[in-house]
Amino acid sequence: MKTYQLHAATGSSDILIGESFEKLQEYTAGKRIVMLTDDQIYALHGEAFPDVPVIRIPRGEQAKSLGRAALLYQELIRLGANRSDMLVAVGGGVICDLGGFVATTFQRGMDLSFVPTTLLAQVDAAIGGKNGINLGEYKNMVGTFRQPSFVMIDPAFLKTLPEDEFVSGLAEIVKYGLISDPGILTLIEGKTPREISGDQDLLAELIGRSVRVKVAVVSQDEEDRGLRRILNFGHTYGHGIERLYELPHGKAVAYGMVVAVDISIQLGLAEDRLGKRIFTLLKNLGLLPHIKPDRDKVMELISHDKKKKGEEIPFVLLKDAGKTVIRPLSPDEIMDLLENIKLFTI
Ligand SMILES: NC(=O)c1ccc[n+]([C@@H]2O[C@H](COP(=O)([O-])OP(=O)(O)OC[C@H]3O[C@@H](n4cnc5c(N)ncnc54)[C@H](O)[C@@H]3O)[C@@H](O)[C@H]2O)c1
Repeated sequence: MKTYQLHAATGSSDILIGESFEKLQEYTAGKRIVMLTDDQIYALHGEAFPDVPVIRIPRGEQAKSLGRAALLYQELIRLGANRSDMLVAVGGGVICDLGGFVATTFQRGMDLSFVPTTLLAQVDAAIGGKNGINLGEYKNMVGTFRQPSFVMIDPAFLKTLPEDEFVSGLAEIVKYGLISDPGILTLIEGKTPREISGDQDLLAELIGRSVRVKVAVVSQDEEDRGLRRILNFGHTYGHGIERLYELPHGKAVAYGMVVAVDISIQLGLAEDRLGKRIFTLLKNLGLLPHIKPDRDKVMELISHDKKKKGEEIPFVLLKDAGKTVIRPLSPDEIMDLLENIKLFTI
C-alpha cells in the first residue's frame, strides 16, 4: 500500500493506493458513517460493505442533479446524520461528484471520504476535491471545492468493471503521461487493455503514477486558476465531440488529445514523431473512434462551453511528452487548424 498526501486550502486528503475496502473502518476515525453508492455497485459488491446505513441510488449521469441532491439531504435527515458524521461515497465519478457535493453542503459540510470503483474515478474524479453536479444540459455547472478526508483506492473493484469503462479510464492515464510523466507512456506502449487489467503490478504502478501527477498539480492550484488547466489537455475538444456524437468520455478525450497534439505540431511546438507515437498508442488501446467531426458544430460547442463566443480559448498543447504549454487561440485560428488535422490519416 502506498499513501500520497494532498494538502490544499479546503483540506488535506490521504490517498491510499492499494488498500482493501475491508479495512474501511480503520480509517473513519470512529465517526458514524453513512455510505452512498449506486445499485450496480451494490449488487456486485454489497456484501463487502460494513454494517452501516447505505443509501443506494440508480446508476447513471442523471444522478448528478439538484433533484437527486435534495433527495439525499432528506435521506440524511431521516437517518439522523449531522455534520460530525462522515459520508463515504463508493462508486464511479458520478457517485464521487454527487456525494462530494452533498456532503460539502449538508449542514454546511459533513465529513467526506471516497472509495472510487472505476478506473476513471481512481485516477481522476476522486482526486482533487472538485465536486460538480449538472444543471439541465450544463455539465458540472454547480459545485464545490473540498478535499475528502481520505480516498481509498482498492483495485479489486476493477475486476467487475466492464472493459469499455476500463478503457475509458486508460485515456486519463495516457493524459497524465502526456502532460507530466512520459514514463507512463512507456509502460503502456504495445500493451492491450486486457494485458494491462490482468497485470496487477502494472495497474498499481499506473494508478500510483497518475495519482501522483494529479496530486502535484492540485496541490499547487486547487481552484483551477492556472496550472490545474493542464489537466484539461484533450478535454476542450473532447467535451465538444462527447456531446455531439454521444461518445464515451475516454474516447472523446483520446480523440481530443490527438487533435491537441496535431495542433501543437502545426504550430511548430512539437515534432511529427510525437504525433505518430500518440496516435499509435491510443489506436492500439481501442480509444480512437471512427468519426469525422463536423468542424462548425464542434467549434460552436467549444465556444459555448467556454462561455466566450468570439474570444480566445486557452488550449493546452504539448512541446513534447511531459511538457505542456497553454496557448490562447482565437476561434478563427482554431477553425483553420482543425481544417488541417492530419494525424487521423497516417
Ligand atoms: N470531479 C472531478 O474532478 C471529475 C473528474 C473526472 C470525471 N468526473 C465525472 O465523473 C463522471 C464519470 O465517471 P465514471 O466514468 O466513473 O462513470 P460512472 O460513475 O457513471 O460509472 C460508470 C458505470 O460503471 C458502474 N460501475 C462503477 N464501478 C463499478 C465496478 N467496480 N464494477 C462494475 N460496474 C461499476 C456504475 O454503476 C456506472 O454504471 C462524470 O460525471 C464526470 O463529470 C469528475
